[in-house]
Amino acid sequence: MAFKERVFSGVQPTGNLHLGNYLGAITKFVALQDTYDCIYCVVDLHAITVWQDPPELKRTIREVTAAFIACGIDPKKQIIFNQSQVAEHAELAWVFNCVARLGWLNRMTQFKEKAGKDRENVSVGLYAYPNLMAADILVYRATHVPVGEDQKQHLELARDIAQKFNVDFAASIASNGYGDAFFPQPEPIIQGPATRVMSLRDGSKKMSKSEPSDYSRINLTDDADTIAQKVRKAKTDPEALPSEEEGLKPRPEADNLVGIYAALNNTTKAAVLSEFGGAQFSTFKMALVDLSVAKLGPIGSEMKKLVQDPVYIDSILADGSARASAIAGETMKAVKDIVGFVRRS
Ligand code: TYM
Repeated sequence: MAFKERVFSGVQPTGNLHLGNYLGAITKFVALQDTYDCIYCVVDLHAITVWQDPPELKRTIREVTAAFIACGIDPKKQIIFNQSQVAEHAELAWVFNCVARLGWLNRMTQFKEKAGKDRENVSVGLYAYPNLMAADILVYRATHVPVGEDQKQHLELARDIAQKFNVDFAASIASNGYGDAFFPQPEPIIQGPATRVMSLRDGSKKMSKSEPSDYSRINLTDDADTIAQKVRKAKTDPEALPSEEEGLKPRPEADNLVGIYAALNNTTKAAVLSEFGGAQFSTFKMALVDLSVAKLGPIGSEMKKLVQDPVYIDSILADGSARASAIAGETMKAVKDIVGFVRRS
């Protein structure tokens, strides 16, 4: 069955948005809006799977919304909203809790990393998180999902859930007039030279919001001086840059910085190396500072301006939520019919 093409993705309002979020996800969100109908969500229900200070949560929901707009997503053409304003996400997640198997969730590496040794003490929500993520995507029957590399396994789970739902309820899907499949198989879009941006302090660790050292990441709200300092202090090795990509393989920090440069400049690692092969890091880092400040500076300033106007931000979220609800509501009506619930017409 052919599904209407639609893009969905989400970003958690926790901590600082950083260069990894920007290059791995948000730049893709911006590019895709030219060709697809897109729905971009501030996933606040996901955020509370670990403790969030309530006033800080409100602030970060608005900050991520500001980042979407400052990076160039058009809130009139596309839908920007926060997840908790559309109740169908949680409703479909419950149905998916009953479709997904414990064994599937037990394999999720992100849960293992986040729970660590203290498994007995983490929230049930953290464990069931991937089911909610599947619901986020499938409540819009989205076909394309731009994400960073770290979300690949969650996307595979969403595909498994869609498939099992379609198989388990095949007869009911057909008798309710939905053909041979109700949910599409959502395609991850994980492309380009920066699908996994690494920490600036340790090339073996992902750049992340939760890493205690602020020097490990470039935040979207960092000013020019801070960006310059962080790039200058980024860990490197004593060798000059190689001329071929192959030469980056055993050098994770060099590989990371070249990938960041390539992504910011909308080119490939090979093209960056053809320009900087043989150069010392001191030279390359100066160019990286200039490029980072040129690209991120205007975004940071626009974000700071936008968050001064919470009334405007909240109106974007209210408008987006209303439009998202209209789509999600239709899906949930159908799901209720398919599952066999009695509903108000
Ligand atoms: P979150 O909030 O951790 O990250 C948002 C997006 O940024 C990407 N990302 C990175 N990309 C490259 N390098 C990095 N170091 C890096 N760090 C983060 C993430 O892959 C993500 O695309 N579970 C999701 C949010 C979510 C979602 C969804 C995404 C909830 N429901 C439905 C897609 C569809 C998350 O925690 O992303």
